[in-house]
Amino acid sequence: MAVTQIAVMGFGVVGSGTVELFYQNKDVIEKRCGRELDIKYILDLRDFPGSPFQDKFTKNFDDILNDPEIKVVAEVMGGKTFAYDYTKRLLSKGVSVVTSNKELVATHGAELLKIAKANNCNYLFEASVGGGIPIIRPLHQCLAANRFSRIAGILNGTTNYILTKMIYDQRSFDQALAQAQQLGYAEKDPSADVDGHDATRKLCILGSLAFGKHIYPEYVHCSGIREITLDDVEYAESAGYAIKLIGLIENTETGIVATVCPRLVSVNNPLSSVNDVYNAIMVTGDAVGDCLFYGRGAGKFPTASAVVGDIIDAAKHEGRDIISLNWEESEGRDFIRPYKTAEVSIYARIRTENQDADSLKSEITNLFGYVDFIPRKQRSQHELAFITPTMVESEIDERLKKLTEDCKLMKKIRLL
Ligand code: HSE
Repeated sequence: MAVTQIAVMGFGVVGSGTVELFYQNKDVIEKRCGRELDIKYILDLRDFPGSPFQDKFTKNFDDILNDPEIKVVAEVMGGKTFAYDYTKRLLSKGVSVVTSNKELVATHGAELLKIAKANNCNYLFEASVGGGIPIIRPLHQCLAANRFSRIAGILNGTTNYILTKMIYDQRSFDQALAQAQQLGYAEKDPSADVDGHDATRKLCILGSLAFGKHIYPEYVHCSGIREITLDDVEYAESAGYAIKLIGLIENTETGIVATVCPRLVSVNNPLSSVNDVYNAIMVTGDAVGDCLFYGRGAGKFPTASAVVGDIIDAAKHEGRDIISLNWEESEGRDFIRPYKTAEVSIYARIRTENQDADSLKSEITNLFGYVDFIPRKQRSQHELAFITPTMVESEIDERLKKLTEDCKLMKKIRLL
């Protein structure tokens, strides 16, 4: 039987991991695939002198596109410009593409899946969410019998590392970010991670799969962790919570709500003890109940593990579309509800210049009926933190606005 030839586009962290893992485990990979495989090309504009894969490098995409031996391509170059164009052209020729590129899947997933289906090939993206954690296949295969009500996840390793350092080592946000950058977790420009955009893309992919319509990143309320201070971390801990950046999509009675933001997670919830660069995703289905997926959400080999898994699946099913995904294109955002119409509890931290704590407490109690005030040692007499009852978020905002004028809302964080 002819060898199935593969190409890898991009030789960065994930690309080099993919090639190295492929050759390291080639024997078991071929056994599981049931056929011989080889990597014929690696596309990258850079030079890699001394690389053991010297004979495979090309700077010309056409070498891959025009080679009829190439049946599967791993797109691990990232971005939306060249990756989008190359992926469309490959799928249109019936060549399967597997990817870790969450930005591209979150933006053009529905369209690329449609092209793959029309050309009897596959567009697979297990590596795009949760690094090495299997989550895409479980959602559309193993859990396909369920109606999903909720997906809640820690979807970004860098921010989880930063928050872990803040919680356990009392590092400030800036100190923890610098540490994450030194260790190579966070980029020099860390905004995609710390402002929540990376987690938003991943949530869109999970939500689109679970609810059947493309959820575009601009539909999702997104705020990151830059404003979290050690004060908030300490108050949260006193009340029995850890602060985590949570991607949450819920199917409520009146529609779907999607948010990525820091949340207080109860210590009784397993997501509260997911630390460092680990990711975890809790999926709730009507038949299965809660199902938790946990593992390394980023990094060279965990991500390569998912990419190579997809390469095997694509090679095994050459010429046959294997993922009849329930993922339609969507126009407009009608099926996504404004996030402030959802019910939630809020942690609020308030300062006042002229009121003492007791009169502030009674003012807040009058506004909400009942709140949990959070004790904290050595706090200023002019500061209070509390947790509101569960109510529609816009209603909570209205009540907070009624606080006397010299009260300043220093922080507002949702609970999970
Ligand atoms: N920057 C991402 C993270 C990489 O920290 O989770 C994996 O998608």
